Amino acid sequence: MPVSSAGIWYFRRQQCANEMNSLAVCAGMELEMNNNSNLFGTYVYPEQQFVRGAGVRLFDSEGHDFLDFSSGIAVNSLGHAHPHLVEALETQAQNLWHTSNLFAVPGREKLAGRLCDNSFADKVFFTNSGAEALECSIKTARHFHHATGNPERINILTFEGAFHGRTLATIAAGGKQQYLDGFGPKSQGFIQLPYGDKDIVETLIDENTAAILIEPIMGEGGIRQHSSEYLQKLRQLCDDNGLVLIYDEVQTGMARTGKLFAYQWSGVEPDIMALAKGMGGGFPMGACLAREEIAASMTPGTHGSTFAGNPLAMAVGNAVLDIMLEEGFLKHVNRVSGRFQQYLGEYLETYPHLFEEIRGEGLLLGLKCKVPNSEVVTALRSAAVLSAPAGDNIVRLMPPLIITEDELAQAHLRMTKAFDFLSEKQTT
Ligand SMILES: Cc1ncc(COP(=O)(O)O)c(C=O)c1O
Repeated sequence: MPVSSAGIWYFRRQQCANEMNSLAVCAGMELEMNNNSNLFGTYVYPEQQFVRGAGVRLFDSEGHDFLDFSSGIAVNSLGHAHPHLVEALETQAQNLWHTSNLFAVPGREKLAGRLCDNSFADKVFFTNSGAEALECSIKTARHFHHATGNPERINILTFEGAFHGRTLATIAAGGKQQYLDGFGPKSQGFIQLPYGDKDIVETLIDENTAAILIEPIMGEGGIRQHSSEYLQKLRQLCDDNGLVLIYDEVQTGMARTGKLFAYQWSGVEPDIMALAKGMGGGFPMGACLAREEIAASMTPGTHGSTFAGNPLAMAVGNAVLDIMLEEGFLKHVNRVSGRFQQYLGEYLETYPHLFEEIRGEGLLLGLKCKVPNSEVVTALRSAAVLSAPAGDNIVRLMPPLIITEDELAQAHLRMTKAFDFLSEKQTT
């Protein structure tokens, strides 16, 4: 390998290692770096490729099936190729793909109405991604203050370890230095609080504070859950100080935690909420939901998007909700979650040298590992179960919400094999 590419390879490998907390996940990278890819080097592109998906399973070109407990990072909420979603997308694709926001879009009012009927919100702005849903949330909160005579209120209090996306504003909101380095001045107006802080939050609120932004359960940050009491405290602080409470439910929303929205476990409502991931079941889309008073100043010209809320996205978004709002859907998620947590409890007892804690709610579950999480992810993949790493040495287990107890039992057998293998490896 020439010196320069060796240098780049080492740099990338180190970056990857920082991101994934381990070098093991970067295995195979050398191959990738030498293959003259035309893609940006922003990801470690693994060689594993799937050619088909059905329900909770993904198939490679040789027909091997994998149980997908990563769900495209909490996106494939209804599994792969769900017949109702496929039908909705195919029907819409035969008729109309895109017209822009210059015209009324079929299904858009309907989807917005259904999201509002089933949440705290009165108004919706559709987006193409989670980060855009956060951008809209941040802009809406600041613009509310601007329009109500407090333009100096621009600061958003956020939490260390949170993840809100990769745009310039959302990396500033997340505050992670690694994501900020090298991209010019940090977007102003974001102040990080330590996770779970009880006292500092009050001291940071002043006449420049606009909002508090929080994930009810931190996803990328290691499935760390804020208590209902804590959310209640933040709600009170917002009410007392005229602040806007923003929930980032990009990962936790759309039934992932066993309620349509994770905040519904606590009953503590926000003023604004960002959604994406599971709401399109794999079709890229997101949304910013808000109370009427907060969204009132978002008038023509204040915000926009060419693609967002287009007919294809609206057709799929409505189809996803058709299923999620069916009687018994959430009960199913909670029943399977209960069974899954029993299995996880067994792993904790059987493999105390591998795992120390179960985290999460519904089917956003995680195991805190005592070995590098990348080793667990790799062992699971070898046993044909796909999982995703998260911060704080967590392995995230997020199967499609339609998973049956039988499919879970199959996964349990495969997972047990993976953990036996890891245990043996540790003792040899
Ligand atoms: C909580 C949270 N917010 C925002 C985002 C950003 O979403 P996207 O990658 O669609 O921009 C993510 C993505 O992982 C997320 O988990």
